[in-house]
Amino acid sequence: MATTVAFLGLGHMGRAMVHRLQQAGFQLRVWNRTPGRTTSSPGLQVCSTPREAATGAPFVMTSLANDEAVQAVTFGPDGFLDAMSEGAVHLGTSTISFSLASTLTERHTARRTHYIGAPVLGRPDAAERGELFVLAGGEPEVVRRSQSIFDAIATHAIVADTAVHAHLTKLIANLIMANTIEILGETTALAEKAGIAPEKLIDMLGRTMVGSPVFKSYGDRIARAEFEPAAFRLELGLKDVSLVLAAGDQLHAPLPLASLVHDHMIEAIAKGHAQKDWSALALIPREAAGLPPLRS
Ligand SMILES: NC(=O)c1ccc[n+]([C@@H]2O[C@H](COP(=O)([O-])OP(=O)(O)OC[C@H]3O[C@@H](n4cnc5c(N)ncnc54)[C@H](OP(=O)(O)O)[C@@H]3O)[C@@H](O)[C@H]2O)c1
Repeated sequence: MATTVAFLGLGHMGRAMVHRLQQAGFQLRVWNRTPGRTTSSPGLQVCSTPREAATGAPFVMTSLANDEAVQAVTFGPDGFLDAMSEGAVHLGTSTISFSLASTLTERHTARRTHYIGAPVLGRPDAAERGELFVLAGGEPEVVRRSQSIFDAIATHAIVADTAVHAHLTKLIANLIMANTIEILGETTALAEKAGIAPEKLIDMLGRTMVGSPVFKSYGDRIARAEFEPAAFRLELGLKDVSLVLAAGDQLHAPLPLASLVHDHMIEAIAKGHAQKDWSALALIPREAAGLPPLRS
């Protein structure tokens, strides 16, 4: 019999993961805060609360915007935690703080259910192709039990020691990407002022050891000024940089580049770019260099 997965949160990432899980033969029960975002594909059971979706399901997956959303859906009045059967597994794919990861682990353990941190790397198009990277952390036996779900959504499941480590590693990955976007914004502005077309710069460096996949994919977007539609909204990027700064505060690890990027993200949002792709952060150093606004 097909394994049931309750999937909560049908945003850009959630919809794509649901599609992959259905294709892999899982039985899906889905819920989203705003009704009507569910696809009408046959076999998809749409539920009216997180609690209803999770009741009796061996796996519950969350793909929600931020800490507040995960807390509301897990612990709130219609939250699913109390409806989970003993031994059932919550796979948390959202990018959340490492302190919430710790709370989730404790609350699940107290109820004899399991929390596996399963944040993902990759944009919605990679999720549609089942080509995400999952950072999986939690009890090893439960991580192994979840492998067929990871296989449906990801090409790589990378195992961390704990859920907290998995979520912090994801935040660090996003900080590295945000810093790359910042440096791409600064250097494409410098190049443009000297008469080097941004496309040419990215093409030249993309063929050297500088050209990582992150450099190339964000460099191309920035060179083409292609910030809409957003694959990952700038306001979600600000959330992640805020969360990594909070981790740095708690662990007394200074992150001066993160502080700079954080302020530039706030500036970009204040200038109306919140719903654009987070690569629109590159507009800030460009403007500082006195270059004319880009068409986007
Ligand atoms: N997009 C990416 O490239 C990417 C890549 C890796 C990881 N992530 C992470 O994956 C998660 C989802 O990202 P996404 O791009 O899919 O975001 P999204 O398209 O904005 O979707 C966010 C989801 O969260 C729900 N939500 C927001 N606030 C809520 C609340 N208070 N209560 C209940 N539900 C709430 C939304 O419901 P409504 O439909 O009702 O608004 C929606 O289902 C985030 O943690 C993000 O950081 C994203």
